[in-house]
Amino acid sequence: MNFAIVGPGAIGSLWASSLSHAGHNINLWSRQTDNQLTIQCDNHLPLTLPNNDHQALKNSDVVLVTLKAPFVLSGLKSLVEHIHSDAIIVLMHNGMGTAEPVSSLFPNNPLLLATTTHGAYRPTPQHVLHTGKGNTQLGATNSLGHQCEFIVDVLNNALPTVEWHSNIQQALWNKLAINCAINPLTAINNVNNGTLSQQAYQYDLQQIINEVVEVMHAEAIAVEMQALTKTIQHVIEATAANYSSMQQDIAHRRTSEIDFITGYLIARAKHHQIDVSFNQSLYNSIKQIEQSW
Ligand SMILES: NC(=O)c1ccc[n+]([C@@H]2O[C@H](COP(=O)([O-])OP(=O)(O)OC[C@H]3O[C@@H](n4cnc5c(N)ncnc54)[C@H](OP(=O)(O)O)[C@@H]3O)[C@@H](O)[C@H]2O)c1
Repeated sequence: MNFAIVGPGAIGSLWASSLSHAGHNINLWSRQTDNQLTIQCDNHLPLTLPNNDHQALKNSDVVLVTLKAPFVLSGLKSLVEHIHSDAIIVLMHNGMGTAEPVSSLFPNNPLLLATTTHGAYRPTPQHVLHTGKGNTQLGATNSLGHQCEFIVDVLNNALPTVEWHSNIQQALWNKLAINCAINPLTAINNVNNGTLSQQAYQYDLQQIINEVVEVMHAEAIAVEMQALTKTIQHVIEATAANYSSMQQDIAHRRTSEIDFITGYLIARAKHHQIDVSFNQSLYNSIKQIEQSW
């Protein structure tokens, strides 16, 4: 199949490499102006792939968007007339809130949402390291998307494991809940994930979780307080030495995904008239840091 990777950063390069090695044609779309880019994943042979090629983009069967959430809409707006209306668009990023505006931009395309736990790190623009094997969950957000379940086999063959989720909102909310708990606290306090297992953070974590659970219930998303608390504790322990993406973004003075993580929670809470003042204060702290640069 013909795949376009829009935003070939760490995760996008991992997919580009994996899909190419599985025999698919890959073209890249990035803010780099070169008409070819080289990607080397781990110790595989380097791949030279077309970049910003309008014809290759137009011929793409699947457009896999691996931009960070704040850049998805602006990144795709300029591509509207260059993406075929039959192309399956897959949004793969942390956080929520891009599906609706992207769906308005591409009303005739099948639109899928994905969440992944693979770890990828790009020490140089050409080199990506697959730092942790994970799982990718995929599901449809419009009726055309529901006809695209076959794509799971294609993706799973390239970078396992990939699973189809008939209710992708559930999977995205589960991930959002974990991100709401871990990301702002690690970013504000400039600590690794494992530090959150200290007693000093337990009150804050519980406040976040209480509010998240209330909003998830209002959104008709299945969640149980004790189970979610346990899951978050497990993730903190399993990733103790890691720094969250938000901690890294803030430490490197890059725009974080706060608007699509805690910001999305706050927007949905507002819709249901639920008080999420603890999460609101974390959101304000991150915004204050970003605005101080
Ligand atoms: N990396 C992981 O292990 C991992 C795991 C799970 C989920 N995720 C999620 O996957 C998504 C992608 O993460 P990533 O780690 O691959 O990020 P990344 O390495 O920073 O790549 C993001 C891509 O977006 C481009 N980009 C950055 N700023 C931009 C801007 N202002 N305008 C247009 N394009 C811009 C980058 O371009 P350049 O190449 O020019 O910098 C790059 O192609 C995020 O939502 C992240 O939370 C990542």
